[in-house]
Amino acid sequence: MNMQKLLATTSILLLLLLASCSTKEVKYKIGVSQCSDDIWRNWQNAELRLEANIHEGVELRFVAAHDDSETQIQQVDSLVDSGIDLLIVAPNQLQRVSPAIDRAFDSGIPVIVFERKTNSHKYTAFMSADNYEMGHQMGQYIATRLEGKGKVLEILGLKGSSPAEDRHRGFCDALSDYPDIEIVASLQGDWTEESSYKAVKAYQGDLGKIDYVFGHNDRMAIGARKVFEERRLQVSGGKGLPLFCGIDGLPGEQGGIRLVRDSLLDATYIYPTRGDQLLQLALSILDGKPYEKETMLTSALVTHENANVLFLESDEVMRQSQKLDQLQQMANVYMERLDSQRTILWLTIILIILLQVVVVGTWLYHKQSVRLARERGAMEREQLDFYTQVSHELRTPLTLIDGPLTQLAETDDAGKVSPRTAELFDIVRRNVAQLTGIINKMLDVQVSGDSAKVSAETKQMAAALKTGVSTEAPAAPSSNPSGSPQYSVLIVDDNADIRTYLRSILQDRYQLFEAEDGLQGMAVARAEVPDLIVSDVMMPIMNGLEFCQQVKSDIVTSHIPVILLTARALNQHQIEGYESGADAYITKPFSTPLLLARIDNLLRNRHRLKDLWGSNKAEEEKTPKSKPIEQPAAVQEPGDEGKENLFITRIKEILETRMADSDLSVETIGADIGLSRVQLYRKVKALTGYTPVDLLRKARLEKARQMLLTTDLSVSEVAYKVGFTSPSYFSKCFKDEYGIVPGVARS
Ligand code: FRU
Repeated sequence: MNMQKLLATTSILLLLLLASCSTKEVKYKIGVSQCSDDIWRNWQNAELRLEANIHEGVELRFVAAHDDSETQIQQVDSLVDSGIDLLIVAPNQLQRVSPAIDRAFDSGIPVIVFERKTNSHKYTAFMSADNYEMGHQMGQYIATRLEGKGKVLEILGLKGSSPAEDRHRGFCDALSDYPDIEIVASLQGDWTEESSYKAVKAYQGDLGKIDYVFGHNDRMAIGARKVFEERRLQVSGGKGLPLFCGIDGLPGEQGGIRLVRDSLLDATYIYPTRGDQLLQLALSILDGKPYEKETMLTSALVTHENANVLFLESDEVMRQSQKLDQLQQMANVYMERLDSQRTILWLTIILIILLQVVVVGTWLYHKQSVRLARERGAMEREQLDFYTQVSHELRTPLTLIDGPLTQLAETDDAGKVSPRTAELFDIVRRNVAQLTGIINKMLDVQVSGDSAKVSAETKQMAAALKTGVSTEAPAAPSSNPSGSPQYSVLIVDDNADIRTYLRSILQDRYQLFEAEDGLQGMAVARAEVPDLIVSDVMMPIMNGLEFCQQVKSDIVTSHIPVILLTARALNQHQIEGYESGADAYITKPFSTPLLLARIDNLLRNRHRLKDLWGSNKAEEEKTPKSKPIEQPAAVQEPGDEGKENLFITRIKEILETRMADSDLSVETIGADIGLSRVQLYRKVKALTGYTPVDLLRKARLEKARQMLLTTDLSVSEVAYKVGFTSPSYFSKCFKDEYGIVPGVARS
């Protein structure tokens, strides 16, 4: 998997995780269809909500039909369509709403019919208090209160609703046992206070004779009471208000318990809301747990005797439940915070993982690149070594064929060979050219065979092999070699043929020394101190680069120019050569005139120190009659000048401090510096063009000249002071050096 894919996958995972963190999973959607919207329903809905809050994943969808069955039918249908998992319904009317409930049940949704009945059996569970029993108990209570005699007015609940029918039946049955109690009228209400108020107000009978009013709920009892209160105001001096009772007995300021406590009602009957129990039943059904199909809720009568206690208790319960609600809300806030903290935590974890992936990926990528580069480098080095080897192997014999052949063809004696021999030379030369061509082609195939991996350097080398031309800048061959026989050249090469060939082209011009490797070469160089060294690079025991380094760091040989003659044609190889201190780098097969020109040039320019007594220059200008010391040839390459300057400075110091000693010899000076007589001679000669004896004499004369100019010493005294034993010999030498005798030089 590459980095991009890895990042994409991790990002998708991150999004999924975030999504799962931020959305609360809804497990159950429960529809609650209430027939009315009043204090009793609100109380029950609050209980349902509270209970739902302590169960995770429960969503409640409430609708209220405002005592209208048509509205409720539509609401039930849309709840079912919205995809609820369970329906809780309190049917407004027995007959009218049942078809909608049946449809819900038939669609496979569990249905709990609550508090009001349906006329079908298509429901999963039913939960209610016993309304018949309630009506019956209220009848008996009233009979007791009226002591078995009196007139009673009944206000009925909504026509067609099961509690109204049951309560009425129970009430009538109870009072049938009391012949002196008369139900003067059963007025039709619809559970609202207003409906009762209107019904009582419209009542044609004599309200003044009514002893007790039974409303099917507390609201309707209060509605009736209002009419009686108004009527009493109108009929002054009346016998007073009758007693009133209702059903519901809700807690709270607006509830029936307080009404009884405050004597606005004589009694009420607690009609349990039990939203908590209702939701637990719903969840048991949804979770597939066992549950009761029919649940009858128990209840109790509230009269003036227990109203106060019940009110206080209910008040306490309300406070507790309010607190519970607050706690619940706080818990929700904490949960939300926890949720967002969890999200942040996940985000952080994933970011860290992402970061690690990026870091590790980058590191692996880098490691791989480094490994590949290393492998590539190793491969290229191997190739380079191979081509270098091939180059060396081929160039050497080519040099040894082409060089001598060219020499033979260019010899002055060529005219003397027979036409037959000349023809044979031609054949050989043509075939050498052809062989070169074949080798070039062969190398070409080698190089292009794996062109992708061959570096530019390798190609460059191959190209150099093909052309067979030195990368050295061409130089005009010297027709007039400055190398007089006194110059010596050391040839260092392990190939005897190369040595022989080099000898053949150099022996007429220079005195030659030979060595087979660097170690031997070093020994010869120290012993003979040649004027120049021509050395191969690839040699056993000690290669040319190391040899060159040793030559350049040994005081005896450090001044000797070194030409590296090699098949190693690449820039890198040449750089190595120059770094080892080489003065020139010529590649094989080399051009003989080029080699000769290079040797000649280096020998010409080898006198590096142009001004032995440079500090005298100003003085010289002031005394034009004096002839300055002859200057050595111009310096060629400034590289090692410092080192050689130090050497000469040391010599000068010795000369100047000890020149008065007439016994001072070349051996003594050499011993002081650590060189043999020969080594000192060669080195000084090479650097300055003078022999050490010449230098000693020149130093003495120079010192004498200064003394003559700056002191009153006599010529003889000056002569002795600078180490001459004979003043006349001093005068002769002085004249030879400066063209005038010492006495004249002073004046
Ligand atoms: C509430 C209510 C109660 C009554 C019950 C009868 O909507 O009107 O006051 O006791 O319904 O179902």
